[in-house]
Amino acid sequence: MPDTNRQLLLKSRPTGLVSRDNFDAVASPLPELRDGQALARIRFLSVDPTMRIWMSDREGYLPPVALGEVMRALGIAEVISSKHPEFKTGDLVFGMTGFQEYVLLGAGEKVPFRKLPAIPGVPLTAFLGVLGITGITAYFGITDIARPQPGETLVVSAAAGATGSIAGQIGKILGCRVVGIAGGEEKCAWLTDELHFDAAINYKQSGWKEKLAAACPQGIDINYENVGGDIMNTVLSRMNLHGRVVLCGLISGYNQEDPALASFATVLIKRLRVQGFIVLDYAPRYGEAVAQLGQWLAAGKLKDRHTVVEGLDRAPDALAMLFTGQNIGKLIVRL
Ligand SMILES: NC(=O)c1ccc[n+]([C@@H]2O[C@H](COP(=O)([O-])OP(=O)(O)OC[C@H]3O[C@@H](n4cnc5c(N)ncnc54)[C@H](OP(=O)(O)O)[C@@H]3O)[C@@H](O)[C@H]2O)c1
Repeated sequence: MPDTNRQLLLKSRPTGLVSRDNFDAVASPLPELRDGQALARIRFLSVDPTMRIWMSDREGYLPPVALGEVMRALGIAEVISSKHPEFKTGDLVFGMTGFQEYVLLGAGEKVPFRKLPAIPGVPLTAFLGVLGITGITAYFGITDIARPQPGETLVVSAAAGATGSIAGQIGKILGCRVVGIAGGEEKCAWLTDELHFDAAINYKQSGWKEKLAAACPQGIDINYENVGGDIMNTVLSRMNLHGRVVLCGLISGYNQEDPALASFATVLIKRLRVQGFIVLDYAPRYGEAVAQLGQWLAAGKLKDRHTVVEGLDRAPDALAMLFTGQNIGKLIVRL
């Protein structure tokens, strides 16, 4: 049994991009297991843009991480010792593991850890990607909020990321013309060549706004928005009457004091339905999403790509990578 736990504690609130200096690396003693508790070794950490908001003292859907607290993060862990009635050694679990090497289960966590099934042919990391929070978010954003009709044009921003890549693929399955916006030629080639998007626009290249217009000759019916700012403004300006805007994220504003919001004049003029949502709203229906996503994955209709960063010490670097666009698909830290 290990007796120390390496942890990354939040030392300071970032201004701008997250850096290692915002964290303190400490080695804390691991307590004796009490009845009703289990100890799990963390195998994978999920790296999510929302963590940047948790690090600030901005109001969000969860309270900020307090200074001196272990950085909050989702992850997958393997039970290595148990006095918990529901978990045995070797079980794989998903939950709020935090940026650390070990996590105690049954220690008063608000949301209990969930046991992960072993599904032949499905890697564990899929539970942080297509079968995890980002896949589930994309699923409900498209099927429940956008409700696309075949032939409609769907534009997805941050399209080569974890959520965007799944949202666009679901749009294709449901018969949409899908156009992705992403930062770079490699990302755009992946979207069109492997995920079969109808077009992909590199917003880092000059003339991208004209290219977007050309890729959407019938206008835009659905905007699956992950970015905000200039990208969202540009997409909104080409929306059709009674279009739908799935407001999933506004990552371009997370490093600023005032999150970037696009002009809402278009929303009024074009009578758009804009709906913000947080995936937690759908918690009672996660099973439905995972069953459908799993079926599409098994049928080869969905591709789930990961960018993997090695080691707990590099977790802060990984978080910064989300904002410099250095990931394709779901960004994960392997411990
Ligand atoms: N509502 C919910 O419940 C919910 C749940 C999960 C995620 N989200 C949101 O969904 C969005 C995507 O999250 P994710 O976890 O799937 O991350 P991700 O898309 O895998 O990674 C973030 C991507 O955003 C792009 N990006 C970063 N800064 C940008 C900027 N200033 N301008 C344009 N693009 C920028 C980068 O790609 P490029 O190279 O293309 O720039 C980067 O790869 C985020 O806004 C997140 O907050 C919401």
